[in-house]
Amino acid sequence: MLRLSAFASGRGSNVAALHAAITRGDLNAELALVVSNNSGAKVLEFGAARGIATAHISGKTHADEGAALLDALSDARTDVLVLAGYMKKLDPRVVDAYRGRAVNIHPGPLPEFGGRGMFGLHVHSAVLAAGLAETGPTVHRVTADYDEGATLGFRPVPVQAGDTPETLAARVLAAEHDLYWRVLADVFVTP
Ligand code: GAR
Repeated sequence: MLRLSAFASGRGSNVAALHAAITRGDLNAELALVVSNNSGAKVLEFGAARGIATAHISGKTHADEGAALLDALSDARTDVLVLAGYMKKLDPRVVDAYRGRAVNIHPGPLPEFGGRGMFGLHVHSAVLAAGLAETGPTVHRVTADYDEGATLGFRPVPVQAGDTPETLAARVLAAEHDLYWRVLADVFVTP
């Protein structure tokens, strides 16, 4: 069975949505490992409470963070590396080792609303400032540069009159939760 390892920095609602899709039987995979660069990340509590292997790996905990990430991924026998709100640039050795089998979800259209500094509410503020009629999450392959790999899936989310970055973020997040597992199933699960 496909073994997923997820990297996340905070709340972890996308990790929870993947876990729910697996539990429902919609995504034929196993969540093998959850890694966070933040010791207090809710996603670590989420994983631990469900018996998923978890690790806190950062530049503070490990002198060679990239090597520690690679070891953890290898110990978990990772098939696919899933970035889900991981707010850190990935070590290039990890990018190389998981080329073609690492994906990220971004809360806006790419490449227009991606790149350095474009994360979380910054993306939604930029979308509103640009006056877009439609936004939506993008799932893409991970490459050495921020938000630059090939797009694997996009879910349109209409911008509504009166939207704030927060209201838009909430609707885009709901779309993320329904998009990510479908893309993983389409791209990596052989029927
Ligand atoms: C999600 O909206 C994700 O798209 C975004 O962070 C949020 C994490 O939420 N990622 C980025 O902005 C990456 N550039 P979650 O922790 O609840 O899944």
